[in-house]
Amino acid sequence: MAIDLFKVNYSYLKEKKRRQYVIKDINLHIDEKDEFIALVGKTGSGKSTLATIFNALKIPTTGDAVVFGMKLKERRGYKDNYNKIRKHVGLVFQFPGYQLFEETVIKDVAFGPKNYGLKNEALDIAKKTLEMVHFPENKYESSPFVLSGGEKKLVSIAGILANDPDIIVLDEPTAGLDPRSKKNILSLLKELNEVYHKSVVVITHDMNIVYEHAKRVIVLKDGEISFDGTPYSLFNNNNDIVKNTNLDYPDSIRLAKYLNNELKLNLKEDHKNINELMEELIHE
Ligand SMILES: Nc1ncnc2c1ncn2[C@@H]1O[C@H](COP(=O)(O)OP(=O)(O)OP(=O)(O)O)[C@@H](O)[C@H]1O
Ligand SMILES: [Mg+2]
Repeated sequence: MAIDLFKVNYSYLKEKKRRQYVIKDINLHIDEKDEFIALVGKTGSGKSTLATIFNALKIPTTGDAVVFGMKLKERRGYKDNYNKIRKHVGLVFQFPGYQLFEETVIKDVAFGPKNYGLKNEALDIAKKTLEMVHFPENKYESSPFVLSGGEKKLVSIAGILANDPDIIVLDEPTAGLDPRSKKNILSLLKELNEVYHKSVVVITHDMNIVYEHAKRVIVLKDGEISFDGTPYSLFNNNNDIVKNTNLDYPDSIRLAKYLNNELKLNLKEDHKNINELMEELIHE
């Protein structure tokens, strides 16, 4: 059980003559456990569109997608079954407003577990999940619509975690969060991956997250996969891909390269984060 895409193309315009593929010829396997994937690429490269295929919100225009044993097809009667897929593959949207709709925060997070058949436990699960994302307790009864952008983001993440998915896909989960919330969410994702063996897929423009947290990075360019491998290999052995796809380097690599060039130092250029680089500088 996993996500498997075979030669998937996707066009927002369905009519044959007007089709314009924004996802092109994608072959991809995502395992149902233990993966930590960063999906990157410049604005408009197709990341969000691809993510909505993972949980059957979009169906490939051509090619096949098989998600947890079910082949995605645009046909009546399939819709209900897709709920099963969405229990396995949870997607946190880029814009949390799309996801929130209940009267209160707590009801919103409890919606998923309730929908999947849990009655009495749903509110308890919701509370636990809101605690996990460090959402302030005095706002559990607030309307989701009066929250700040960052708070909405936390509620939308909690809403998906409450369903206990095997694969959790998060579209720019830390965008708009303050540094502390960002750290909390990242350590939560690490725990979900390392302790609970969930597969985590994070869409992000933040190369520090990619280099420090991801085990695998997939780079999209104009709807195609231009790289699928380890972050180490991307940033240390594939400079051409970093350049061609307009990616940044992680801060630690960027700073080491700068210091080596400008101050003629001889620092390692593959430190995982700034702290590691500082350690080397201090001991130079
Ligand atoms: N609802 C839509 N209708 C038509 N075209 C769309 C729609 N949504 C996205 N597109 C187009 O599909 C392409 C891929 O968009 P997508 O949102 O998947 O990119 P992205 O990589 O997530 O970008 P970003 O980093 O800005 O979030 C873009 O060219 C975009 O213009
Ligand atoms: Mg996007």
